[in-house]
Amino acid sequence: MPADAIIIAVRQGDGSPVLAAGAADVDAALGGGLTRTLAALGATGQAEEVTKTLGGSSLAAPLIAAVGIGNAADHDPGSADAEILRRCAGAAVRSLASPAIRTVALALPAGDAASAEATALGALLGSYSFDRYRSNGQTPAELTLIASGDYAADAVARADIMADAVTLVRDLVNTSPSHLYPETFAAEAATIAAASGLGLEVLDEVALSAGGYGGIRGVGQGSVHPPRLVRLSYSHPEASKTVVFAGKGITFDSGGLSLKPAKAMEAMKCDMSGAAAVLAALQAIAATGPAVNVVGYLPLAENMPGSGAQRPSDVITIYGGTTVEVLNTDAEGRLILADALARAGSEAPDIIVDIATLTGAQVIALGRRVSAVMANDDALRDGIVDAASRAGEAMWPMPLPDELRKGLDSKVADLANVAAERDGGMLTAGLFLREFVPDGVRWAHLDVAGPSFHEGEPYGYTPKGGTGFAVRTLVQIARDVADGRL
Ligand code: BES
Ligand code: ZN
Ligand code: ZN
Repeated sequence: MPADAIIIAVRQGDGSPVLAAGAADVDAALGGGLTRTLAALGATGQAEEVTKTLGGSSLAAPLIAAVGIGNAADHDPGSADAEILRRCAGAAVRSLASPAIRTVALALPAGDAASAEATALGALLGSYSFDRYRSNGQTPAELTLIASGDYAADAVARADIMADAVTLVRDLVNTSPSHLYPETFAAEAATIAAASGLGLEVLDEVALSAGGYGGIRGVGQGSVHPPRLVRLSYSHPEASKTVVFAGKGITFDSGGLSLKPAKAMEAMKCDMSGAAAVLAALQAIAATGPAVNVVGYLPLAENMPGSGAQRPSDVITIYGGTTVEVLNTDAEGRLILADALARAGSEAPDIIVDIATLTGAQVIALGRRVSAVMANDDALRDGIVDAASRAGEAMWPMPLPDELRKGLDSKVADLANVAAERDGGMLTAGLFLREFVPDGVRWAHLDVAGPSFHEGEPYGYTPKGGTGFAVRTLVQIARDVADGRL
């Protein structure tokens, strides 16, 4: 197939790289010397290592990019190997980002549905670029997966749905907060709801005040952009369970009057990553149709220190009546989520999962690639960690220690929004949220502060900026609930 470049994979052999599945035809077209050439160029087959070589006149592509896949299996990959394929396909496609390369053929492992889907998804995610604000942006190269089996079209279609969802999150996160604020975010959600056939309810600032959503109102009142609460719903006629996803949607977190230092504010357009992940997950769920009901809540607010801003020591009333003394206006995510959780709880769902860039303490505890899972139910927590691993995302179980709860006692209200003690800040935030979940409802909290936004060099399929983290896990959770696994 003619293309500007063709990607093949090599495994790590005994000293020299070995052709992985999909590469044989390329090697044959060149007369069989490919691994010797790659070895001479220094290729080892180590995962994500990319080595480029001449395609030549006997091949329909002038350039070959050989990507190492380590010791990953060629066929029927388990979830770990599928993630290696995704990352390697992503790294290879990223290495070919150039105005000169308009078409890329993927002669990568795709011998069964799972590897075809993983390869296609990694390649699509690796081809991402955010060009909205560039005057010379270029469209990404066209990708073609070389796979002949009758499973291939379906596998690529599934990868397309997931790539669209992850791309949506990245675009929303990367969009400047001067363009993405609660009103415009809600409008975007409405567009997607209409296109995907989702149910939609949007509460504006008047409806939020009238409805008693004191958390969202309080956080939003220092901004010229008023807050919103969006409720999306997907239902299936054969569903027996309902799961709610609630995502933190702070379109910019300045800290409010408890103002952040300038450096700490730079990446705070990412503080709506949870809400974006929920919106995108609903889009992907609607496109794939699992037998489960899914409701998505997006509490949206901009946390600014305008003259109407809430003051440290203000007392607000969360949906349902719990009062909170706001001691630190930078602990705002838990306030808007409290409203969303209380409202979600009033619908008596089977499971609630919230997802939030909630605490700097999460980043300190687990770094920037692993997110935390806390829950009021150990089986749910462990099931979500497992779902994440099958989806190719790193999440780790964290406790909600009872002894930290008393730190949230307030001198004047039912609760304070922060504890005097900073230690265990991620867990204290989880304990605060737990207060708003009704007894008997299984609930989990994902703190994704680190993994949502990537400030280092790109790796695998992960670009700089918004990563799209957690969408794949949310979709997997919906599937697992539909399958009776969660
Ligand atoms: N949005 C931040 C948390 C955050 C930090 C997200 C780093 C992404 C990267 C959150 O609203 C916040 O400011 N949390 C405070 C809580 C503290 C005041 C109890 C924090 O973590 O410092
Ligand atoms: Zn904050
Ligand atoms: Zn925040």
